[in-house]
Amino acid sequence: MEKATNSHPLISFENVYKTFGNLKVLNGLNFTVNKGETLVIIGQSGTGKSVTLRCLLGLIIPDKGKVLFQGNNIPDMNEQELINLRSNFGMLFQMAALFDSMTVGENVAFPIMAKGEKPLDETNNIVTETLRAVGLTGIEHKMPAELSGGMKKRVGLARAVASNPNVILYDEPTTGLDPITADAINELIISTQKQMKTTSIVVTHDMTSAYKVADRMIMLHQGVVVGSGTPDEIRNSDDPMIQQFINGRADGPIEI
Ligand SMILES: Nc1ncnc2c1ncn2[C@@H]1O[C@H](COP(=O)(O)OP(=O)(O)OP(=O)(O)O)[C@@H](O)[C@H]1O
Ligand SMILES: [Mg+2]
Repeated sequence: MEKATNSHPLISFENVYKTFGNLKVLNGLNFTVNKGETLVIIGQSGTGKSVTLRCLLGLIIPDKGKVLFQGNNIPDMNEQELINLRSNFGMLFQMAALFDSMTVGENVAFPIMAKGEKPLDETNNIVTETLRAVGLTGIEHKMPAELSGGMKKRVGLARAVASNPNVILYDEPTTGLDPITADAINELIISTQKQMKTTSIVVTHDMTSAYKVADRMIMLHQGVVVGSGTPDEIRNSDDPMIQQFINGRADGPIEI
């Protein structure tokens, strides 16, 4: 694969459409993500944020349009190319999606082992350290069923970052967490990006988290981008749709 240069975005969605049955979800979606930046995606429930992330992993194939990673179109990739593509990505799924039959430690180790580059003792050290970073020291031997929802989410987060991927996709990383733990997760997202030069996409409804972790933000509505900018530009936007969303008002141009 050709390397992305500064003048080319690492990721671009070009006029992407996706319909499920009669439901039009993505309606000509366009956005780019530059190498090393954190892009936050906000938008109402059901507007296509998780579908967008799944398009990037090649788990959903759009009806029309391009999803480019390093200039290569993901919908055109064969199975082997998709396996290579996915080795670049860490993903925190919205519902954590842990492997239920594996221990916490095995879950976090999984993407490191899949890369096959690290000896076992080093892998174990990374697992211990990553679990510490998400505030879960010493739970390697627990099974997912023994954990609370917030703990599962944090194990999913540890699994997403443990293998030091080039790109991390976070689907609602702080939802359902208490405010203190949520802020620790924000710090982890920021420090991972800084230390590892990771490129990140964060889908969130949590505006405190969005403003804190974002270099740039986009707002989706009905499968298109309706606003974009830095956290300050979004905060100060005079677009009524953006103001309604960021201030959490039922009343306004966006209908529930
Ligand atoms: N595989 C699928 N088959 C059919 N419909 C789907 C599928 N995946 C998503 N959808 C539908 O597409 C729409 C967008 O879903 P998506 O999960 O992207 O929403 P979202 O923006 O992530 O919402 P939330 O904030 O609630 O997570 C929803 O109406 C959903 O039911
Ligand atoms: Mg979602």
